[in-house]
Amino acid sequence: MVIAIDGPAASGKSTVARKLAEKLPCTCLNSGILYRALTWQILHSGIDPADQEAITFAVSRMQLELSVPPIGSPALQIDHHVPEFESHDNEVNAAVSKVATVPAVRSCITSLLRGFGKDRDVVMEGRDIGTAVFPDTPYKFYLDASPEIRRQRRAAQGLEDSIENRDRLDSTRSIAPLSIASDAHVIDTSNLTIDGVVDAIFEILTHASRDQQ
Ligand code: CDP
Repeated sequence: MVIAIDGPAASGKSTVARKLAEKLPCTCLNSGILYRALTWQILHSGIDPADQEAITFAVSRMQLELSVPPIGSPALQIDHHVPEFESHDNEVNAAVSKVATVPAVRSCITSLLRGFGKDRDVVMEGRDIGTAVFPDTPYKFYLDASPEIRRQRRAAQGLEDSIENRDRLDSTRSIAPLSIASDAHVIDTSNLTIDGVVDAIFEILTHASRDQQ
């Protein structure tokens, strides 16, 4: 069973997904971390994040796998090694949405995500989990918040992150853009606490499982 949580930057997805997974309980997978790890590797290899051809070539030569520790979050393993990096590093923030538009990048990460969710109960969060990665899951949530609130949340974290720029690139790319699945439950988190959002999702899931019995 895959519970898909999608939404734009700083909508609260990561914290909500982690807390929901603890409450259910089940595994949690933050798909953005995989895009960030691959972006870090691209930058670290001296490749221009806007050079789609060079990225496609580099990815074709990489061995990409998911490293799944017994405790803690799955991570991207690149050529048998999990890169150690600061995931919300300014350079990664500025480049990740460009790298995430490259078709070869999306197809590699999508197939890792599908393999992971095939036989597991997992809360998976990202941009395209309910629309493209697991479109058949009946459990889809789309978290949103006003642009002003989202900007304030990132600023409070002390991060330099052009979220408008990422949102624009993520929503307008040709493959698996950020969009609301027609059967997703949309939750505006602007005036809700994290626990309030987790409880709202938990209640919807509880009703759904009662309806199925
Ligand atoms: O920082 P935030 O939680 O907003 O983003 P993230 O989940 O760490 O994702 C970073 C970036 O990865 C996004 O802005 C997208 O460009 C890309 N991404 C994607 O394209 N598809 C996903 N399923 C997850 C992330």
